[in-house]
Amino acid sequence: MEKKNIDWGSLGFGYMPTDKRYVSNYKNGAWDEGALVDDPMITMSECAGVLQYSQSVFEGLKAYTTEDGHIVTFRPDLNGARMEDSARRLEMPVFPKERFVEAVRQVVKANAAWVPPYGSGATLYLRPFMFGSNPVIGVKPADEYQFRIFTTPVGPYFKGGAKPIVIKVSDFDRAAPNGTGHIKAGLNYAMSLHAIVTAHNEGFAENLYPDAATRTKVEETGGANIIFIKGNKLVTSNSSSILPSITRRSLEYVAEHYLGMEVEERDIYLTELGEFEECGLCGTAAVISPVGKINDHGKEIAFSSGMEEMGPKIRKLYDTLTGIQMGRVEAPEGWIQVIE
Ligand code: PLP
Ligand code: COI
Repeated sequence: MEKKNIDWGSLGFGYMPTDKRYVSNYKNGAWDEGALVDDPMITMSECAGVLQYSQSVFEGLKAYTTEDGHIVTFRPDLNGARMEDSARRLEMPVFPKERFVEAVRQVVKANAAWVPPYGSGATLYLRPFMFGSNPVIGVKPADEYQFRIFTTPVGPYFKGGAKPIVIKVSDFDRAAPNGTGHIKAGLNYAMSLHAIVTAHNEGFAENLYPDAATRTKVEETGGANIIFIKGNKLVTSNSSSILPSITRRSLEYVAEHYLGMEVEERDIYLTELGEFEECGLCGTAAVISPVGKINDHGKEIAFSSGMEEMGPKIRKLYDTLTGIQMGRVEAPEGWIQVIE
């Protein structure tokens, strides 16, 4: 199979339509059998549930070319399970996780020419999503839905790749204590847009959202969980209103079982940030992006890892995780789905 003629190394995190997408529609209480289609456009009612009341959930995962030339995905079963949870919370029908994993397989295989080569620094990003498609005018769930996965080749999420970034403690709230912060709903991102534009205008790469109830504890950023290093310990938030990041959960396993680190999931107070040596943002898109400084209303918390490169512990976590994804490091049982 011949790869597409793309300058893989210069890709940013953007959308480029590829040959095929997977589509399944839900009508009269059932999903159809689903198919790969060519058309990247969607036509629907002006009154569709998603357009009026934002009834949409999504996922994000990647396909990688391994060192020995296979195409693989990373823990797609966990994305499928999380999408089930997201759908339930928004009163949408569940697209079964087994079908999700099979749809991932089909769409990656069909777009194999778009999976960036090993060593290029790029990957194929998959965006599964689901939305209410029939007319809804009273506030209620739709009756018809579409599940779709498109793919797009991507480079680093943050400009500069592995260079440390500076983030700010936001004055806006991302997630209410009993809200939707723990699911991957489009609405969580719509409400973060003003906050991210504000942060960018002020020269920051991302927002650190404190907990909405007390504004004393670290939650996460707009598109990634936050990890901290203190000595030999990996410390992450255990808040119930953050997205349960698959990358973060994988890093916790890697820290404990591959690197002999201690792992602590707990409340993390803004007042203790200065005690950490390293900080990073983790997620599918971000992988691990090192944080050099956090600005808390003018007070700068600078991590000892500095602004030049990843700190040593985060570097080890990064190398081990990407090593597993690219086939250089043996993966725990069940983490890698070989597509071809
Ligand atoms: N938190 C938020 C708000 C996100 O959008 C993402 C991205 O998916 C993550 C965390 C990271 O999750 P994952 O590692 O499953 O991609
Ligand atoms: C991902 O990491 O897959 C995400 O969905 C984050 C998104 C904000 C790009």
